[in-house]
Order: sequence, then C-alpha cells, then structure tokens
Amino acid sequence: MNYENILVQQENGIATITINRPKKLNALNRDTIQELHDAFEALDTDSDAKVIVLTGSGEKAFVAGADISEFAHFSVDEGGKLAAKGQELLFDFVQNLGTPVIAAVNGFALGGGLELAMAAHFRIASDNAKMGLPEVSLGVIPGYGGTQRLPQLVGKGKAMEMVMTAGMIGAEEAQQCGLVNHVTTQDELLPLAYKLASKIMRNSLVAIRGAIKAVNANYEAGVNGYETEITEFGNCFGTEDFKEGTTAFLEKRKADFPGK
Ligand code: COA
Repeated sequence: MNYENILVQQENGIATITINRPKKLNALNRDTIQELHDAFEALDTDSDAKVIVLTGSGEKAFVAGADISEFAHFSVDEGGKLAAKGQELLFDFVQNLGTPVIAAVNGFALGGGLELAMAAHFRIASDNAKMGLPEVSLGVIPGYGGTQRLPQLVGKGKAMEMVMTAGMIGAEEAQQCGLVNHVTTQDELLPLAYKLASKIMRNSLVAIRGAIKAVNANYEAGVNGYETEITEFGNCFGTEDFKEGTTAFLEKRKADFPGK
C-alpha cells in the first residue's frame, strides 16, 4: 500500500510504522489517522508481521499531538465526532489489536501523541523524550482515551496533575511512574524495540493474542476480565501452538510455534 504520511517497513517478522510528517512534528491529521488505521489493519492479518513497532520520524518528535490546525474551527458536534472517529479508527483499534504493538517514543509525545503511545501495548522511550497531555492549555480536555489510559498507567493523582498542569515530564520520570518501561539513548531506541520484539516472537503469537484480549478486558466497562481469561485460556487448548509448546517442554527442546 502507498502512504503519504507514514512509512511501513518489514524485516525479520517485525513491522515498523514510522509517522512521517517531521516538519509538523508528526502531528496527527485526518489522513495520517486513516493511514495508520489502514496499516495496522493490514499488518494484523499479515502472518509475516509478528510484532509492530511504532515510532516517529526525525530526532525531535514521536507525535506532537493531534493536528491543531484541523480542528481549531470545529463546532461542538464536530468536536464530538472527531473524538469518536479517532477512538474507533486508531486508538481503541491499536489497543485491541491482536498483534503486539510497541511504541518507541523518540521525542515529544504530546496530546494525541501520548494518547497514541498509551494505546500501544507498551512503551519505551529515548532519553530526550517529553510526554504530556497539554490539551487544557488549548481549552479542550484530553481526548482519544487520554483521560482513561493515563490514570490506568500512572495512577489517578499523577494523571490529574499532568492533565491539570498541562505539563511535560521527561523520560526518566515517565519510567518512574510506569508510563514507559525502558529508557535508552536515541541511537539505541529502535535496537531495543527490536530486541524486545524478537523476545516476544519466540513465544506463541496465538497465546499472546488471547492474553492481550484478557488483559484489556480488565479495563472494559461491563466486561468480567476473569471470564474473558477463562475463555481465552480454554481456547488455547485447541491450538497447534499449545500442542507444540507443551510437547517441546516435555521433550526438553525449544518450541517451534506454527502460530496457529
Ligand atoms: N498540530 C499542528 N501543528 C503542529 C503541532 C500540532 N499539534 N505541533 C507542532 N506543530 C507544527 C508547528 O505549528 C510548526 O509548524 P510551522 O513550522 O508550519 O509553523 C512545526 O510543527 C514545528 O513546531 P514548533 O512549534 O515550531 O516547534 P518547537 O520546537 O518550537 O516546539 C512543541 C515544539 C512540541 C513544544 C510545540 O510545537 C507545541 O507545543 N506543539 C503543540 C503541542 C500540543 O498542544 N499538542 C496537543 C494537541 S491536542
């Protein structure tokens, strides 16, 4: 597929999506959100793409937010639709993707940028990264799941402070409060993402798909996560991966998962 605002590369089972609007600090305009949706959807059904790494182009920004120039003149109705559509097309879509998504935060991750990183299954950051939800400084609240996912990751009090002050935190503080899992230099960021992706790929991707569903179920209103876990756990017993994983253990060899 041809994209104008993102780059998609695939190597050794790992797909890298790079948001590529460096002159606008990779701000998410409507077309970029649609392209990201299309790329994630295509990769999720591509058996050669086992793990997805999401990052921003350039040395300055992961994503500096939703594109403010696109919504500055919106009405109440248009604002609501913007939030709902983005949620459906990208942010909830990424969170619920069966293929693991690692966000490699390489600079500013603000507003929609941090919201996108938080929708990924986990995050790593370079030491120059700056993260925050500055929306109230624009007269709007964090959207795209920002008010929900930030407290899930950093706790309510810290999230309230970040949202109300509209301030940014650095990579080290982000690691301390659980927003990112690892911090490294800019040069080492993608190598670390690929190292983690390779570690993930050694396991059963079918089981991982079920595990993502079960973990996410804990955060879904009206869904009993324990019940989802029981269903997903049981489903594994019908997979080739389960047969291979348990057989390999009993035969004292490394499992070679067929991914089915
Ligand atoms: N939407 C649209 N354009 C954006 C943008 C956004 N969220 N963030 C940055 N840009 C654009 C700037 O308008 C500028 O474009 P121009 O060169 O055509 O004027 C370009 O990206 C570079 O940004 P600039 O502000 O000049 O860089 P800087 O290094 O001085 O500041 C930031 C960097 C991230 C602090 C600053 O760009 C910023 O505050 N961005 C908005 C952050 C935000 O509020 N995000 C939440 C949106 S919901």
